[in-house]
Amino acid sequence: MNDLVQLIYVSSAKCLMTEQELVDLLKAARVANLSHGITGLLLYNDGNFMQVIEGERCDVDQLFKNIEGDVSHTGIIVLLKDKIISRDFSKWAMGFRNISGKELEGFSRFLEYHSSDSDNVILPGKAKAILMSFRG
Ligand SMILES: Cc1cc2nc3c(=O)[nH]c(=O)nc-3n(C[C@H](O)[C@H](O)[C@H](O)COP(=O)(O)O)c2cc1C
Repeated sequence: MNDLVQLIYVSSAKCLMTEQELVDLLKAARVANLSHGITGLLLYNDGNFMQVIEGERCDVDQLFKNIEGDVSHTGIIVLLKDKIISRDFSKWAMGFRNISGKELEGFSRFLEYHSSDSDNVILPGKAKAILMSFRG
């Protein structure tokens, strides 16, 4: 079997996305991901994305090339790309949470921290912990 990898990145939407735009994005993403064995979770808050994608290396690389070339978002920063033994989000072709209220705290604190800190070493761990906390 080819390597399984997990990739986590953050980005910002060029324009705030409507509920309908998010639904459309997810619908298409889930169909495509299912056919390529991609699983993961997408978090959205007020124009900011954090996404984890996992799958076989070639599938993750291909998808991320598409995502990087997507003009609907910008400021894409890869926080982690690791070889993994097993998937953390195996249940979801692409889970989604539009974060608000209390849940927001950890995420927005992360983004603040992220934009003002230069120590990249602990960021991947923080990002992963946030994503994992939404796994249920
Ligand atoms: C934040 C964000 C997350 C995305 N996640 C996925 C995804 O998980 N799977 C996917 O197929 N497309 C995803 N897309 C869409 C891709 O960027 C791209 O539009 C799509 O893969 C294009 O496929 P096509 O060229 O085959 O039409 C995402 C886009 C954005 C802005």
